[in-house]
Amino acid sequence: MKRSLFFILLACATLSSCSNKTESEDKSAEVDNTPLEEQAVFGTYQGNQVLEYKLTNQNGVEVKVINYGGIITSILTPNKEGVLEDIVLGYDTLSGYLKDSPYFGALIGRFGNRIANGRFELDGEVYVLAQNNNGQHLHGGLVGFDKVFWNIKELSSEDGSALELTYSSKDGEEGYPGELDVKVIYTLTDDNELMVEYEAETSKMTVVNLTQHTYFNLTGNVKGDILGHHLKLEADGFLPVDKSLIPTGEIRPVEGTPFDFLNEQVVGARINNNDQQLEYGMGYDHCWVLSAADSLKLAATLYEPTSGRLMEVFTIEPGIQFYSGNFLDGSLIGKDGVKYAHRTGLCLETQHFPDSPNQPQFPSVVLNPDEVYRSKSVYKFSVR
Ligand code: GLA
Repeated sequence: MKRSLFFILLACATLSSCSNKTESEDKSAEVDNTPLEEQAVFGTYQGNQVLEYKLTNQNGVEVKVINYGGIITSILTPNKEGVLEDIVLGYDTLSGYLKDSPYFGALIGRFGNRIANGRFELDGEVYVLAQNNNGQHLHGGLVGFDKVFWNIKELSSEDGSALELTYSSKDGEEGYPGELDVKVIYTLTDDNELMVEYEAETSKMTVVNLTQHTYFNLTGNVKGDILGHHLKLEADGFLPVDKSLIPTGEIRPVEGTPFDFLNEQVVGARINNNDQQLEYGMGYDHCWVLSAADSLKLAATLYEPTSGRLMEVFTIEPGIQFYSGNFLDGSLIGKDGVKYAHRTGLCLETQHFPDSPNQPQFPSVVLNPDEVYRSKSVYKFSVR
């Protein structure tokens, strides 16, 4: 039973993001519900308990997740001396996440990234969404998937310990058409990989673009900013934006620009260059165009020299948003009382392109009722 779940998940990874429904129907009933670890009470919200779940592997790597927003609250990985430290930004208590969180660690949906003017047309109908970011729609709206309760079930497979998160988004929620049933599985393997698998089905034609918004800082327990991290992006093009951070529609070659990360580059080396795109983003806040693939491919490699930590990001998505934490300004006090100063965390958000619902030349984000949306990304932790 467990083995078959593993192979079914593996098979799904090779499919493109939308595919025929029958393939996913086979996947039900494969759940092994063995409890893994005691979950701790993280807080209470709207009368419901917020619980924190823990995934561990044989190397001591540990990932914690709460059922509010599907938020990853911490990831402990070893540095080159074997010392386990936390490599993600977040809060010690629920109130931080409720009060003021720029999507720390959260699941993002129904549409990750921006939709111009919070409007799009689908099948002859115009849909109006919240304009929650300078007149644009960002990360699913006022109450996106980062601010809802997810049902969590602990799974265990030969692949590693896992959490299955489900959420049913109502027809019309945040202005989007169709009831959307979403499933996300976080799996921690003994090869120090955190796998994130997404699946969604809709009752009506809709748009979907799911992602994960963890802020990484590989120094461990946030010892400084992320400007000294080294980054490699497997992308020879990126999407230039206008000043509202909406893609212009052009795919621009990275060659000869500060957006060229085809060879490993220090993040801070060119971030303050005199460049209109860096000015609009206040640093890096852009989507890089990955080569198309139906199976997992390497998208990004992040390395931090003082700790020796290395993280590789694999995905089946066509894009990756690299956001260099430009809006962090020291006003947020995070875990262990650490002040999150400018650019102390960076996000590598695997996704379809921003504003795709309004840009028909971009890969489609439309999901029909007879299809299953599937996405998969893997974050692999090691040292160099
Ligand atoms: C995203 C956006 C950024 C910013 C952060 C949250 O990744 O691209 O512009 O809004 O979320 O602060």
